[in-house]
Amino acid sequence: MATSSPMVLSLLLLASLTALLVLAPRLSPPPQPALAAAAGEDAPTRPAAAVGAASSKGTGAGEEADDLRLFRRAALEATAAAASGKEAKAAAGPPKVAFLFLTNSDLTFAPLWERYFAGNSALLNIYVHADPTSHLRLPATPSFRGRFIAAKPTRRADASLIAAARRLLAAALLDDPANAYFALLSQHCVPLHSFPRLYSSLFPPPPTSSAAAARHDDHRRLPSYIEVLTGEPQMPSRYAARGDGAMLPEVPYERFRIGSQFFTLARRHAVLVVRERRLWRKFRQPCLPEVAAHECYPEEHYFPTLLDMADPAGVARYTLTRVNWTGSVAGHPHTYGAAEVTPGLVDELRASNHTHPHMFARKFAPDCLAPLLAMADTVLFKD
Ligand SMILES: *[C@@H]1O[C@H](CO)[C@@H](O)[C@H](O)[C@H]1NC(C)=O
Ligand SMILES: *[C@@H]1O[C@H](CO)[C@@H](O)[C@H](O)[C@H]1NC(C)=O
Repeated sequence: MATSSPMVLSLLLLASLTALLVLAPRLSPPPQPALAAAAGEDAPTRPAAAVGAASSKGTGAGEEADDLRLFRRAALEATAAAASGKEAKAAAGPPKVAFLFLTNSDLTFAPLWERYFAGNSALLNIYVHADPTSHLRLPATPSFRGRFIAAKPTRRADASLIAAARRLLAAALLDDPANAYFALLSQHCVPLHSFPRLYSSLFPPPPTSSAAAARHDDHRRLPSYIEVLTGEPQMPSRYAARGDGAMLPEVPYERFRIGSQFFTLARRHAVLVVRERRLWRKFRQPCLPEVAAHECYPEEHYFPTLLDMADPAGVARYTLTRVNWTGSVAGHPHTYGAAEVTPGLVDELRASNHTHPHMFARKFAPDCLAPLLAMADTVLFKD
């Protein structure tokens, strides 16, 4: 009798929902390690293979069950941790930077990154999503060992690069509640400043006044560094790449944005991304075959569009990763070769019109490793 009252019903529903939210982390199956730790030691491709052959079709229209489970678990645990104050406790230790390497070939610059990470391991974590079809060699340096997450094939001109970035964010969220920033990088990216310089830019020292200090303590307000542009000439055709009206009603043209693929996201935005499904459902639709070769770069649109819709005041609207589009060929930016690598180039690439200098740059050809290493201490990491 009583349960037929809509009021009681909704109260019951609310109570059970609350219970579910509180208990979910404990009820969920024992967390599989987000990192395929030991298995990844010798062969980065092994954990990916373990994901199952049935799920290697790429993204396309459907969402694969294992990805969905990963995103759900990351979103749930992040929310529960925030609610229970676990995040605050982790934040009582120093916040960390998660370096997310998205690659489909060897991590040639691993020795340079190794020098960059040296002495700072308490303040950072490394995660690698390596396309399992690419059979890359494991970097000879120790920092990347056991840091490969379960990966799937990535291709240009579809949403698989977005899916891979989401997998990296989810794995890093689950792995360490102290991860406060998430920097997406590729195998062609190099650092332009030392790690301490990056760290003090991301987490500026507390201001002197106590009101300002209280604001500073609230890491939830840290900005995300992602380019957000509008009115670029290629946008109408990019917007229409899935057919007229395909993005509606979730993404009207006026809300559609473009930005560079490589970003540094604050934790609350990483959670937002792995929890988000409405826009993701739109952006993972395949492009029309006749435009796919030229107009299909969903990874340059999904993140800026989503963040500009969800938290326009919380994004810096520029990226910390410099890229040179002058003379780009077939959608690829200029790739620097060894002969171009000079201290002068590093100065030029660091320069920015924004609050922070550029901290990373792309794209660098593998032969740049030797000249970059040669000037690591005297130029790159000398701040
Ligand atoms: C950008 O690339 C072009 C070649 O495409 C090159 O001439 C130019 O010097 C590069 N700019 C910088 C800042 O490196
Ligand atoms: C800074 O702004 C000027 C003027 O708009 C532009 O020419 C220059 O390329 C910008 N520099 C960088 C590093 O973006």
